[in-house]
Amino acid sequence: MFITFEGGEGTGKTTLIQGIAAVLRNQYNVVTTREPGGSNIAEAIRDIILNPKYQGVTPYTEALLLAASRAQHLDEVILPALRAQKIVLCDRYIDSSLAYQAYARNLGFDFVLSINRYAVENLPNLTFYIDLDPKIGLSRIAHRDKYDRLDQEAFDFHTKVREGYLEVAKRYQERIIVIDGSQTIEKIQEQILEEIEKHL
Ligand code: TYD
Repeated sequence: MFITFEGGEGTGKTTLIQGIAAVLRNQYNVVTTREPGGSNIAEAIRDIILNPKYQGVTPYTEALLLAASRAQHLDEVILPALRAQKIVLCDRYIDSSLAYQAYARNLGFDFVLSINRYAVENLPNLTFYIDLDPKIGLSRIAHRDKYDRLDQEAFDFHTKVREGYLEVAKRYQERIIVIDGSQTIEKIQEQILEEIEKHL
């Protein structure tokens, strides 16, 4: 089973995935991974995408690099784990490209879907979108001493990302479950585990 986690900045996905993996590991083989990255080549591409020293990355280049890192990650990590009957929990996947690149960067759904055809052929069984007002999300990460190139985007960009996610969740209702990210992390974890159990 392939499960992805989506959301804007500061939605607590990383902590959630660790908590959920710990519970599922009592009964199942679980692999946790993330995008962009997840394998050494994909992590090298991640550095080009997120490193603030590359301010000149254009929207098209950004989308193509993300698609390239996703293709590598699929072949090296996700597909082998699924073939071995493992549960894959992935922090971000194609819906991030739809919310950030297609919607917030205005590249359009058709273009982003076309360059991500390999991922479209390998969609998750289930996706949790943690919906949170970016004012709250950004205030949660405000204490960090390092910001990546996308964290540094203006507030309006993060508002557009949220609109993009809500649009994506509408388009793929059969796969995406919207979770209220203003609840406590314990509540969110409980809700997600219930949904996963229903699908297992
Ligand atoms: P990361 O540090 O993993 O952020 P977070 O902890 O918020 O998940 O950085 C990933 C950044 O890359 C994040 O700002 C979202 C962005 N991103 C895209 O714009 N498109 C994509 O397809 C993916 C996978 C990530």
